[in-house]
Amino acid sequence: MSEPLASADVVLDAIATTRAIRRYRPDPIPDADLARIMFAASRAPSGSNRQGFRFVVLRDGPAAIEAKAVLGEAFRGGWNAKRTGDGYDSGSGAADDSPKARTARAMQHFVDNFEATPVVVLVCMLRKRGHITDGGSVYPACQNLLLAARALGYGGVMTMWHLTVENRLREILAIPDAVEVMATIPLGRPQGSHGPVRRRPLTELVFDDRWDGEAAWAVEPAGTRHTSAGPPGSGRPR
Ligand SMILES: Cc1cc2nc3c(=O)[nH]c(=O)nc-3n(C[C@H](O)[C@H](O)[C@H](O)COP(=O)(O)O)c2cc1C
Repeated sequence: MSEPLASADVVLDAIATTRAIRRYRPDPIPDADLARIMFAASRAPSGSNRQGFRFVVLRDGPAAIEAKAVLGEAFRGGWNAKRTGDGYDSGSGAADDSPKARTARAMQHFVDNFEATPVVVLVCMLRKRGHITDGGSVYPACQNLLLAARALGYGGVMTMWHLTVENRLREILAIPDAVEVMATIPLGRPQGSHGPVRRRPLTELVFDDRWDGEAAWAVEPAGTRHTSAGPPGSGRPR
C-alpha cells in the first residue's frame, strides 16, 4: 500500500506537536498503554534490521526503585552542571518571567522529582561497534516511543544524564558489559501539555540542489513559530 494515509494530518500533527515533557502527574501508565508504546518503539528500523535495541522498563519494582534513585542523583548533577555552564541564571535568566527562567524551573522540577517519574525506559544497544552511525540503529526507536506516548496522551523526553552512572545501573539491573545504555526516557501523563514545537525556519534547515541552495518550495504550514536556538543553517548569514 503506497497511497497517502487518510490520517496523514493526524500523523504529521503528532510529529509537529510532540514536545519534550519533563513534568508528570503521578498516575501510573497502565500495562496495555505501555505495551502499545513499546510495540511502536520496537517497530523502528535499524541497520540490516539487526534490531540491536533493547528496552529496560523501570516502574515500581525493587530494582527499578533503586535505579531511579541512582538516576535521580545523576540527573540533579547533570542539570546543576548545565544550569551553571549554560548560564541559566544570568542574562535574561535573571528575570523570573523570561523563557530561560521558565525552562530552568521546569528542569529543576524535573530533576527534583525524578524518583516519582511513573516510567523510565533505558534504551539499550547490543554490540556497539564504536562507529559514529551506531546511534542510528537505536534513536529511531526512541522517537517512535515518544510519538506513541504522545498519541496515547503521555509525554516524555530523551535524555543522556545516565552516562555518569551507567556502571551502577549495570550492577543494579544486571545489564551485560557488552550492552550500552544509549538513552534514558522518562514517561508519564504530562502536567503541562504538548503543543507545536519550535525550530528554525525550514529554509534555514533544508537546502536545494547544493549546500546552502535556497529551497523556495520548502514552505511551512501557516502560523509556524520559530526559535533561534542552536547554530544557524549554513553558518553564513543570509
Ligand atoms: C540526543 C538528545 C539528548 C538530550 N539530552 C537531554 C538531557 O540529558 N536532559 C534533558 O532534560 N533533555 C535532553 N534532551 C531533550 C532536548 O533538550 C529537547 O528534545 C529539545 O530541547 C527540544 O525540545 P522540544 O521538542 O520540547 O522543543 C535531549 C534530546 C536529544 C535529542
